[in-house]
Amino acid sequence: MNSFIPATSIDGQAPPERSTGDEIIRLVDVRRRFGTTPALDGISLTARRGEIVGIIGRSGAGKSTLIRCLNGLERADSGEIHIEGRDIARLSEKELQPLRRRIGMVFQHFNLLSAKTVEENIALPLKIEGVAKAERLQRARELLELVGLSDKAKAYPSALSGGQKQRVGIARALAARPALLLSDEATSALDPETTRSILALLKDINRKLGLTILLITHEMEVVRSIADRVAVIDAGRIVEEGSVWSVFANPQASITASLLGGIRPQLPEHIAARLSQTSGAEAILSVDLAGPAAQGALFAELSATLPRSFRLVHGGIDHIQNQPVARFFIAVPTRDATLPARVGDFLKARSARVEVLGYDN
Ligand SMILES: Nc1ncnc2c1ncn2[C@@H]1O[C@H](COP(=O)(O)OP(=O)(O)OP(=O)(O)O)[C@@H](O)[C@H]1O
Ligand SMILES: [Mg+2]
Repeated sequence: MNSFIPATSIDGQAPPERSTGDEIIRLVDVRRRFGTTPALDGISLTARRGEIVGIIGRSGAGKSTLIRCLNGLERADSGEIHIEGRDIARLSEKELQPLRRRIGMVFQHFNLLSAKTVEENIALPLKIEGVAKAERLQRARELLELVGLSDKAKAYPSALSGGQKQRVGIARALAARPALLLSDEATSALDPETTRSILALLKDINRKLGLTILLITHEMEVVRSIADRVAVIDAGRIVEEGSVWSVFANPQASITASLLGGIRPQLPEHIAARLSQTSGAEAILSVDLAGPAAQGALFAELSATLPRSFRLVHGGIDHIQNQPVARFFIAVPTRDATLPARVGDFLKARSARVEVLGYDN
């Protein structure tokens, strides 16, 4: 598998203009405006070698604009865009060409050439570079093996499923041995099972090749399953950033909480709808825990310390990046008016985040 390890410097190019350690991407205050719309409104972000960074945001947040600025298809109005230590914002179109080869692109709709076979599609970036035919077909075969499609070399894209087409798209993106893979909604056109297999493939490639991947998506599940870090983008700004498990455990921005809505336990709708904000027989509390705190026998301890002080309503424990992330909803009787506060204090003393959502009868 050695042949897949990307070179660590730009082939045949002058060394990077400054030492950046292991930073593959460094964006500093990048801005891009379309008319009055600030598509990118001061983005600063880094990605280190071997990292998978998820960029998540709603439609129109600026994700594709960010990708286009990164691969030089679009010019930023201002800011610095360093790829392997070189600021591409300062390069001419001609100087950009070799740098573009350091970046592989994977697209939502695959963008394969229908008149070319699978192996020709994969070898195309090498053909453009002037690599000899025998060598580029050899490379295509290696890549087909890597993406699990060795038997499809001579097939045409029309004979492939969506998932197979995306495997070809990924193989093509890797042909020129990039240092960075940019994926713009690579799984958005695929069903959930195929999505999982493509994400597993990206993770596998990331491990085997030490490849840095920037994963653009509007789906938290994509970030959850393979990213190391996540940046949440909204209206052209990064509103939240951190390791995936910590952002999932404790989202700070309301947009993050709303993007997490589908994959994080929520208070069941029929209960939420009838909650009173003033009084009721039970207080409904949300309890969020992460890391070591989520591993303890918290509710058993609570029962032992304050007998019959709560009942479980909903929730569960997830594991993200091997860290437990728990979210529960509990009901605490209010016949003793001090009980909800005592339960809350007990849980908070054990690192839980506790919120009273309302009262139920
Ligand atoms: N070429 C353009 N001309 C004018 N406005 C543009 C152009 N490209 C993007 N925009 C605007 O910039 C903003 C960001 O668009 P962008 O395509 O980056 O969003 P996105 O996060 O990729 O959205 P989606 O999830 O729908 O793909 C939007 O308001 C969009 O209308
Ligand atoms: Mg987009």
